[in-house]
Amino acid sequence: MSLVTVKRAEAELLLPTYDRHPVLFTRGRGVYLWDSKGKKYLDLLSGIGVNALGHGHPAIHKVLVEQAGRLIHTSNLFFHEFQAELARQLTKMSGLDRAFFSNSGTEAWEGALKLARAYAHAQTGTGNNAKSRILALDNSFHGRTFGALATTGQTKYREPFAPMLPGVSFVGINDLEDLRWKFDSSVCAICLETVQGEGGISPLSPEFLRLARELTRKNDALLILDEIQCGLGRTGRYFAYQHYGVTPDVVAVAKPLAAGLPLGALLTTHKVATCMHPGLHGTTFGGGPLTCAVAVEFVKQMKSLLPHVQNLGNYFKEQLAELEKKHPAVREVRGLGLMLAMELDDADAAQAVVKRMLEEGIIINRTHDKVLRFLPPYIIEKKHVDQAIHALDRVLAAVLRGGISRKYGKNEGTIADEVALAHA
Ligand SMILES: Cc1ncc(COP(=O)(O)O)c(C=O)c1O
Repeated sequence: MSLVTVKRAEAELLLPTYDRHPVLFTRGRGVYLWDSKGKKYLDLLSGIGVNALGHGHPAIHKVLVEQAGRLIHTSNLFFHEFQAELARQLTKMSGLDRAFFSNSGTEAWEGALKLARAYAHAQTGTGNNAKSRILALDNSFHGRTFGALATTGQTKYREPFAPMLPGVSFVGINDLEDLRWKFDSSVCAICLETVQGEGGISPLSPEFLRLARELTRKNDALLILDEIQCGLGRTGRYFAYQHYGVTPDVVAVAKPLAAGLPLGALLTTHKVATCMHPGLHGTTFGGGPLTCAVAVEFVKQMKSLLPHVQNLGNYFKEQLAELEKKHPAVREVRGLGLMLAMELDDADAAQAVVKRMLEEGIIINRTHDKVLRFLPPYIIEKKHVDQAIHALDRVLAAVLRGGISRKYGKNEGTIADEVALAHA
């Protein structure tokens, strides 16, 4: 099937929720993808942080095929062999005690929010006058279901679906005063991404995370971290909070957990878990034998890649920083491990860079308007980073020349002109 045929069919048949790039992918191997015309792409986005082991990883493929032939789904009415094993691995890595499995990031987050309310209810005995306020962060992103939306600090996602779940207040990222001011004894949870992903790859400051930990601990509220994008090896540690020496009461993970199959999890302490009982929360699909068997293999592979993620992440960041010195329109390079960003001073330019990189056969994306986001697979090598940096250097020069010229008054060119020229 051709791109044109698929595009036409989707335009007639799907809800218009996505503005897709005009590429039809048909296969992948390692860090590469191929489209329907046979063009090869270097994948520096991993399906938004999901394909952390790249495409067609042989160990994942083996488990997937074997388990698919044995048992795919049981429902959570019965036992299977892999949930407890996966929970054992995740709790050991996280320093937490218990797990609940979902199908996606947003569901893991919903579970975490429900846990916060259930824990607050349990503290009062009757549930009367239970604390219920939630503090979340400006620019955060936690998913598309209602609880996740209500805690997402970006009006463009929330407003079209108002009214939201009540009781959520937003705090400025790394604003200690704002956090102190908005926190009181009515707060049941502080909810944070350890490194904001969709909000532009912004890590929490150590002081801010420590203050959130201190306030919640003193008041028996929960510190809930969203590591759906930044967890499970992405930053070079099992969990991003391990860079800070802080352990949350609850952490949500998802994206890479089952190497491309849909699986999320929340991890929590024994103490918090006591507020749950059979029937209070659940899912039909979450944590099935196929996804959990694959996830056990993912965890095994991921553990051996952590030093590589750290090294390659440092190298990649250094190379991006070199480009920052060279191209004045680059505002900042930031990130941890293989979760990296280059912020430009212009949203149109960032969009044009992503488009032009795709034409060059390199997949990145743009988030928070001006931020180029890099979430490559953990198996990426130095030669792939070098290829990407060379291409980005060329593309930045071509796309930004108009914008830079305009800004510094060197000639009359515009970004639109430049992009048109670049694509001519
Ligand atoms: C930090 C964070 N939380 C939650 C989500 C939602 O996850 P999902 O799309 O799997 O529901 C995402 C997705 O991008 C995310 O990056």
